[in-house]
Amino acid sequence: MVLNIAMDGPVGAGKSSIAKAVADRLGILHLDTGAMYRAVGLSAIRAGVDLQDEAAVTAHTRQIDVAVAHSAQGQRTIVNGEDVTDYIRTPEVSMAASTVGKYAGVRREMVAIQQKLAASTPMLVDGRDICVRVLPGATVKLFLTASAEERARRRWNEMKDKPDAPSYEEVLRDLRARDAQDMNREVDPLRPTEDAVIVDSTEMNFEQVVAYILKIVEEKTHE
Ligand code: DC
Repeated sequence: MVLNIAMDGPVGAGKSSIAKAVADRLGILHLDTGAMYRAVGLSAIRAGVDLQDEAAVTAHTRQIDVAVAHSAQGQRTIVNGEDVTDYIRTPEVSMAASTVGKYAGVRREMVAIQQKLAASTPMLVDGRDICVRVLPGATVKLFLTASAEERARRRWNEMKDKPDAPSYEEVLRDLRARDAQDMNREVDPLRPTEDAVIVDSTEMNFEQVVAYILKIVEEKTHE
């Protein structure tokens, strides 16, 4: 069986960087599914689609081609042949990703691509609905979280020296808004499944979280 590791968690829990480090240590690929919703959000914004219009966003998603490529530096995310990786991390695109992620038709398209990728290749897949929808049969299921204040503090630390950096309060407010939208949507809301191991990193540093997850993977793959 192909090794699939499913990792869900809220904004700023460190999923992307932790997932990449764990995948690198295991010698498998890391699929960042959030980047795919971000790519849809960016594409819809650029095309002038009203993000609140579910039918229009869904139709737009069906018209575009979202793909990923893996390089030594990690995942590149591609829309209609254009590498959009460098344009999908703005606050505007973050919120757009969360909004387009509410729509069932958009989710169906993204889930199908993700399942196809993971079916044949050992992967660690991170996102919001991986344990419940994308890889319900994953060998290892993880829910990575931390307190909202700690997640906002980490986010803010990454951004604070950039020009036009938001204040800590703004970061915390945006994070809570996105949490609320991701956890309260109708289709596959973010929540830990019963068979997921909850990893609360509030009191752990990066290396401790990576080591802890590698230990869980080791245990689960030898069960
Ligand atoms: O992981 P991220 O912050 O890059 O994700 C951006 C948004 O995309 C997130 O707020 C909700 C949405 N998303 C989703 O609905 N399902 C996923 N599997 C991954 C992300």
